[in-house]
Amino acid sequence: MDERHTGRTTRDGIRIHEKADFAGMHAAGKLAAEILDDVSEHVFVGQTTAAIDRFITDRVEAAGATSATIGYKGYQHASCISVNHVVCHGIPGDKRLKDGDILNIDVTVIVDGWYGDTSRMYVAGNLSRKSERLIQVTHDALFRGIEAVKPGNTFGDIGHAIQTYVEAQRMSVVRDFCGHGLGRVFHAPPNVLHYGRPGTGPVLEEGMFFTIEPMVNLGRPETKVLADDWTAVTRDKSLSAQFEHSIGVTADGCEIFTLSPAGTFHPTYTTG
Ligand code: MF3
Ligand code: CO
Ligand code: CO
Repeated sequence: MDERHTGRTTRDGIRIHEKADFAGMHAAGKLAAEILDDVSEHVFVGQTTAAIDRFITDRVEAAGATSATIGYKGYQHASCISVNHVVCHGIPGDKRLKDGDILNIDVTVIVDGWYGDTSRMYVAGNLSRKSERLIQVTHDALFRGIEAVKPGNTFGDIGHAIQTYVEAQRMSVVRDFCGHGLGRVFHAPPNVLHYGRPGTGPVLEEGMFFTIEPMVNLGRPETKVLADDWTAVTRDKSLSAQFEHSIGVTADGCEIFTLSPAGTFHPTYTTG
């Protein structure tokens, strides 16, 4: 039987994967996480985001894997690199990083047909106190969301956990972009909202695979997309941060597919 057709789909169109599928996701997630570990030393003042992306492209190729983003809806790069007030989908280019810049690097790879999607924050040079707080709150918001993942809880519980934590810190959750189901596809149902009310939305079941990837702004939540049709920025130009993991629901919680092998998912604030 074609392995793509094992498992089933819920009434909300969410695929329920088999136990054996977790191994494929772990392999893909591990490669994406390793690449984000290794990219750290390429982030420094004066570096271009195009050079960072080139390193990522080479690492994907060296691993014998495929970039999920090159050719995706016309996108031409192996990563999205979103600097300062860029919320997500920043396009790598020739602009040089400046002292104090904060950036999200988002990588998605395909290994044996399975997708691994993860992003984290990096810093060029010295980190300001307000950037440090934004990064810490965004990181912790992702883990509040992850802690809400177990069968019987709902997607609204995940969003609620993230939103209440972020807003208690007087920061805001971006509404215009969300996490997503994934597996043998990049983006699948459901939309994983990073805000919401408890008990609403589809019920979590063992075997669901999806990302949680909250974007948090120091100012207001509104975004706009620039004329390049990709780059999303905060309307008020306030700083924005994001962290993303790909996870799978287990009988009593979840497994994170994109854990950092080096243990450097949280930025260590080493400067260059
Ligand atoms: N990796 C992003 C996500 O988290 C999607 C990037 S699509 C691209 O879903 F085309 F902009 F690369
Ligand atoms: Co994603
Ligand atoms: Co991503």
